[in-house]
Amino acid sequence: MKNRIGFSRIYSIATSLMLLCSGILMADEVDAEKIADTFYKLNYNPKTPHMKINHAKGFCSIGQFRPSNEVTKRLNIKLLDKKEIPALVRYSLGGAEMDDRSKGRGMVVKLQGEDGATWTMVMLNSEINFARTPEEFLKFFEMKIPVNGKVDVQKIKEITQSTPSFKNFSAYMKNVGISKSVANTAYYSIHTFWFEGVDGKQIAARWKFIPTDGVKYFSDSEAKKQSKDFLQSEFKTRVAKKPIGYKMYLVLANPNDPTDDTTALWSGKHKEIFVGDLSVDSYDGLGCNGDVFFPNDLPSGVNPPKDPIFQIRNETYGVTFGRRQ
Ligand code: HEM
Repeated sequence: MKNRIGFSRIYSIATSLMLLCSGILMADEVDAEKIADTFYKLNYNPKTPHMKINHAKGFCSIGQFRPSNEVTKRLNIKLLDKKEIPALVRYSLGGAEMDDRSKGRGMVVKLQGEDGATWTMVMLNSEINFARTPEEFLKFFEMKIPVNGKVDVQKIKEITQSTPSFKNFSAYMKNVGISKSVANTAYYSIHTFWFEGVDGKQIAARWKFIPTDGVKYFSDSEAKKQSKDFLQSEFKTRVAKKPIGYKMYLVLANPNDPTDDTTALWSGKHKEIFVGDLSVDSYDGLGCNGDVFFPNDLPSGVNPPKDPIFQIRNETYGVTFGRRQ
């Protein structure tokens, strides 16, 4: 009897300790609300409460996607089994940036297939990002929040140098320039998605949209001469003459490539599948700036990434969309 009381007391103390620890862990846990709060601390402008809190500046356009013969022979993606698919395209700048003479660019391509099937591809002009985990994502933005009205540049430098993902990304972006046009920018999925082959096997791949007019950057002196809103006017002039083209490819993972790490660059040769041609042919105003684009909106035959940030990424888009209504 004495032994049993002793055991149950130890058991209940151990359980209480475990609950306490998990309570502490939960308080520290990074969730979509916490990430959204950080975006609001950094970027919120009370004059524009309905604007996106990230990738705020952007414009909309319309185009067509023409799948290749190769893709339908190799992959089970029914949505692509058509000659032409209408596409909505939103171009944006990174973060709360309002000046086009900056490096970060985003592109959403939403393919609108038959029977309501859609595929929303939400991309950046870099092959990798700066955060492998939600914790790193939060840390990246938290270090930029001003303290007593001042951004601590020295602290940002130190944290960037001591966090391998940040350091790696910052080195990568040194080789990316300010692109001359959205038509001279390549866009990447960053995450690795899983594609169903015609044999039913899952193929790990990232995708990229390569501009047919080539990637072109301004020199520093050329960039300074541009207006801070040059992208939209350049786009309008360009599409009035001819559509903007991109070729979409899947880049298949090699056996040693990480498939769950958005900060890992895949180097060397890779097998590719040519998915099709995107042709963007008209400006469509600013209406799509109010929309939300969920990266987990995938057609049958395309399965979500297995990395630690994809899920929370989607949840955060839902939270910020809700807050800005
Ligand atoms: C945990 C990871 C991420 C979080 C929390 C996050 C957060 C956000 C948020 C809050 C928005 C605004 C959504 C809205 O209110 O409509 C946004 C937009 C955007 N994000 Fe992310 N992001 C993440 C990762 C990424 C990655 C890996 C990419 C690139 C592959 C990316 C590309 C974009 C683009 C292009 C937009 C603008 C979409 C549009 O045109 O509406 N983000 N992001």
